[in-house]
Amino acid sequence: DRVTVSVIKADVGSVGGHARPHPLMMQKCVERLKDGVRAGTVDDFYVTRVGDDINLYLTHTRGENNKDVHGLCWDAFMDATKVAKEMKLYAAGQDLLTDAFSGNIRGAGPGAAEMEFKERGAEPIVFFMADKTEPSSYSFPLCKVFMDPFTTTGLVIDPRAHEGFKFEIVDVIDSKKVIMSTPEETYDILTLLGDTTRYAIKRIWSKSDDIGIGAVVSTEKLNISAGKYVGKDDPVCICRAQSGLPAVGEHLQPYMFPALVAGWMRGSHYGAWYPCSVADSDPVFFDGPPRICAVGMHVSNGKFQGLEDPNSPVGVHEPLDYFAGSCWDEARRSAVKASMYMRRHGPFMPAVLGPEEMEYTTRPAVLSKLKERMEKLE
Ligand code: 13P
Ligand code: 13P
Ligand code: MG
Ligand code: MG
Ligand code: MG
Repeated sequence: DRVTVSVIKADVGSVGGHARPHPLMMQKCVERLKDGVRAGTVDDFYVTRVGDDINLYLTHTRGENNKDVHGLCWDAFMDATKVAKEMKLYAAGQDLLTDAFSGNIRGAGPGAAEMEFKERGAEPIVFFMADKTEPSSYSFPLCKVFMDPFTTTGLVIDPRAHEGFKFEIVDVIDSKKVIMSTPEETYDILTLLGDTTRYAIKRIWSKSDDIGIGAVVSTEKLNISAGKYVGKDDPVCICRAQSGLPAVGEHLQPYMFPALVAGWMRGSHYGAWYPCSVADSDPVFFDGPPRICAVGMHVSNGKFQGLEDPNSPVGVHEPLDYFAGSCWDEARRSAVKASMYMRRHGPFMPAVLGPEEMEYTTRPAVLSKLKERMEKLE
C-alpha cells in the first residue's frame, strides 16, 4: 500500500529559443509513458512543462531510483529529442548528457524528485515547477512554509505540524548531506541554507511517524555532473499537504513575494520569481523572469486525480493550476518591476551572479590578453 510519486524532468529542446517544447515532443513522451503503463512499469502519468522543460509526473510502486522507471523516462526524452533534432529546435537534447543510459537518471542530466509514502485518506499534492533557476531557490519558500509560524499557522495550531520537521540539506558542491531538525536547529539550518550557491533542501519529513515525507526537491546540479556548466537545472519540488503537513494554501503563500533567484538570461542573472500558469510559463522578458508554476492533484489509489472525469483514459489529467487566476496578478506585476530594476544594473553585480556561478565568462581570455599590460600596484 505504498505509492511512489516521481517527477522526472529535462529540457531536450524548444521552439523560440529557450521557450517552449514543441507539442509533438510532449506527445512522444505521452506515447512512451502509455507503453510504460501497458508494460506495468508505472501506474499513471501526466506530461506537462514549465517554460522549455518537459516534466513527467508518474505514480508507481517501484520506489525511488528505480531502473525501469528512470529508463522509461530516459526513452521518452530520447524520443522527444529526436523530434527536436529533426525540427532543428533550440538546444535539442540539451539535458541528456550521455549517449548511453546507465540505469539511473541522476547524474545523466535530467532532474528527479521522488517520494514514497503510504497513501492517506486524502492525499493532496502540490507540484512546483520552475524554469530559469536552480534548486536552492526553493530553500527560502520551504523554510517559510515549514519553519516560520508567522507564515504557517499550522505550526502553531496543528498538533502534528507543531512537533516540527526533519530537513535533509545537501552541499551541492562537495556532494555531502546532513539531516537537521526543526524547530530546535532553525538558526543553524538558516546559517547553511542562506548560502544558495552551495546548500539546498533535498527532503523534508514530518516528525510524526504516521505521515513520513513532506517535500522533495530535484537537486541534480548540472554544472557539476557534466564536468562543465551546461545550464541551471530548472528544479521541481513535490509537496504533500494537509493533516499534519502544511496546508495547500500555506505551501503557496510564500510565492506572493517575488523573491530574487539565480538563473534567468544565460543562467547568469538574478531575477524575480514570477508565479504563473503553465500556459503563461513561456519566458518572454530577457528569457524570463524566472518562472514558478504550481499545479495540484491528488494521489488516489495509486493514480493521479485532478478535475478530470475519474474514468478518463490513463495519462489524461486536469490539475488545478494555482497561479492561473487574477489573485496572483499583483505578485506578477511586482516580479516584473523588480526584474526591470535589476536589469538597470546591466552587466554589473548584483544583476549578474558572482564569478563562480556565471554560466559562461570571457574573463580568462581577457586576462590573458592583458597579461603584458597588467602591472603590480606600488
Ligand atoms: P474549509 O472549511 O473550507 O474546508 O477549509 C478548511 C481549512 O482548513 C482551510 O485551510
Ligand atoms: P534553460 O536552462 O531554461 O535552457 O535556459 C538557459 C538559458 O541560457 C536561458 O537564457
Ligand atoms: Mg533550454
Ligand atoms: Mg529551462
Ligand atoms: Mg535548464
